[in-house]
Amino acid sequence: MFRSFFSYLSKAAWARRIVTKWSFAWKMASRFIAGEDLSDGINTIKLLNSKGINASLDHLGEHTISPEQARKAAMDIVQAFDAIDEAGVRSNVSIKLTQIGLSLDPDICLENLQLILDKAKSCNNFVRIDMEDSPVTQRTLNILETMQKRGYDNVGIVIQAYLYRSADDIRKLTENCFKVRLCKGAYKEPVNIAYPKMKDVDTSYDRCTALLIDGAIVKDCPELSPDGKIPPLPALATHDPERVNFAKKYADRVGLPRNALEFQMLNGIRRDLQEQLVKEGYWVGVYVPYGTEWYPYFMRRLAERPANLWFFIYNFFHR
Ligand code: FDA
Repeated sequence: MFRSFFSYLSKAAWARRIVTKWSFAWKMASRFIAGEDLSDGINTIKLLNSKGINASLDHLGEHTISPEQARKAAMDIVQAFDAIDEAGVRSNVSIKLTQIGLSLDPDICLENLQLILDKAKSCNNFVRIDMEDSPVTQRTLNILETMQKRGYDNVGIVIQAYLYRSADDIRKLTENCFKVRLCKGAYKEPVNIAYPKMKDVDTSYDRCTALLIDGAIVKDCPELSPDGKIPPLPALATHDPERVNFAKKYADRVGLPRNALEFQMLNGIRRDLQEQLVKEGYWVGVYVPYGTEWYPYFMRRLAERPANLWFFIYNFFHR
């Protein structure tokens, strides 16, 4: 119910208009979001890099409503590669396909994605496609496949452990040497396609982790590039210490080197765990979102954790 409510709020224009006007909302959102400008994202990455942490820069935005908006978003993303190069930071880029036109027309999306991947290639960089809610899961995977057929190998994907289909998707993706970021899943999904109970999502997460690690071993354990931009095959995106511990133990048991695995977390969440993993000799990459379109991202962060919501409500009454 909690997630359904926030899922509704994240798409409700009226709620967005109200919430984004509250200064305390931005104050709270800025725990997760680097700032509204590209330079804010770069500054956050510099700080992370100084602690030995890599990054993936995300220009916030989703479900654009016109081809012009989708092209503008693609051009903004292209600029991010230049900023990364100019600053000399260890970061690749994450994107959402509905931001560059997937919900308008797959051809518009493909054209914009190609522009972004060409730019990434010219900068020796990498693009991670975030996974959005289930109406676009298959379309997102189709676009990834199309890009592979067109010869692009500098692109990877996110898979959500809460979907029943994910283990099968991972098997296919690892056979084709795709780089996969595994997360639990942040959207409200119906029970016919996703595990409703967190316990089952956790079990699925561990099963998918093992599949990804086994897949990396079969492919000779490609390592993170020395500049921190091109990730290894498995990227395990979670702040859950039990999932992290399972992955560490499994990787040790089957002999996956630490350079062939990256743990990933969201900006502003479990900084202690991020730093602890770096100390233990693991690679950590942090997802750094920036931009003015922070509202739906912020709603998903609230939905993940009731404590965030209570904090938000407390601040509402103590403005
Ligand atoms: P879980 O929700 O069990 O949380 C474990 C612990 O982490 C909590 O006990 C708490 O300490 C901390 N925590 C988690 N969320 C928090 C929050 N919002 N505020 C404060 N503390 C919090 N999802 C998706 O559907 N598509 C995508 O493309 C991505 N991409 C992505 C990239 C990266 C790098 C990460 C880390 C995550 C995503 N996600 C995502 C989000 C993901 O699906 C999931 O919703 C969150 O990571 C929370 O799940 P955990 O695995 O952390 O576990």
